[in-house]
Amino acid sequence: MARHTTLRVGGPADLYVEPASEADLVEVVAFCREQALPFFILGRGSNLLVKDGGFRGVVISLAHAHFSWITVEGERLNCGAGARVKMVVAAARQHSLAGLEFLEGIPGSIGGALRMNAGAMGGAIFDRVETVRFMSPDGQVHERVAQELEPRYRRCPFLQTQIVLSAVLRGHAGSSEAIRQRLNEYSEKRRQSQPAAPSAGCIFKNPGTHSAGQLIDELGLKGTRVGGAVVAAKHGNFIVNSGGATAHDILALIEIIRRRVQAERAIELEMEVEVIGE
Ligand code: EPU
Repeated sequence: MARHTTLRVGGPADLYVEPASEADLVEVVAFCREQALPFFILGRGSNLLVKDGGFRGVVISLAHAHFSWITVEGERLNCGAGARVKMVVAAARQHSLAGLEFLEGIPGSIGGALRMNAGAMGGAIFDRVETVRFMSPDGQVHERVAQELEPRYRRCPFLQTQIVLSAVLRGHAGSSEAIRQRLNEYSEKRRQSQPAAPSAGCIFKNPGTHSAGQLIDELGLKGTRVGGAVVAAKHGNFIVNSGGATAHDILALIEIIRRRVQAERAIELEMEVEVIGE
């Protein structure tokens, strides 16, 4: 799975499947159900830590082109679950649709971004979602208005058990120049404050009004290393793979950070990154 995650770590899955249609997906999920095999839906692996022993079960990737389409109609962008957030931002820009600029630079797919209500620059993706189409584990396809899915800060509990197929996002007509300027501004802010080396973005959720990154920074933990895993110099809430890191290194470093923050600030940091495997 190291090849399929932005952290570049993780042992193998027993089976790795890339369905090429919704019908394929229904069949794979039915197979898993019949065989009582656990399965995991993979987006672009940008918020995921797979343990070194790998995943016992089936990893179902929605990276196939069939799930990665984007169509634009008026102010609405209809996006397949596998479409990269980056491509959605680009499509909005091409059609002079404003309001989605804050998504600039968020790695990952639409399905993954919805599952965790990904956000940046004070916005979260569900702020711009109108409807979501998804498949329930029994293979039935449903469509719901976004608010009914009750998204929260960096999570959408309802989608934990469903497979997102597509979503309609809404922008609003804007000036191309203003959109371009905002994109540049956000991209520059990100470049200055976040590392470019392989990572999974922020490791922890922000506890209440605190920034986890700032807390970690204040405790002098930047640069702390276990094997190839290092707390980034640019942002305390990023652990980067400086080369040759294992999931074990990263998890050990996470534990060191958690213990220090608990001991010195009495704050329990909650993981933002999803951990799977053994
Ligand atoms: N700060 C420090 N030291 C650090 C990091 C941050 O002092 O090492 C300070 C900054 O100077 C700033 C404050 O903490 O005053 C907040 O920092 P930042 O703007 O980077 O925001 P954040 O709360 O740390 C959140 C999201 C990011 C998102 C940024 C930018 C979470 C957990 N993180 O970080 O999202 O990109 O805002 O909008 O909500 C992610 O979810 O994976 C992620 C990277």
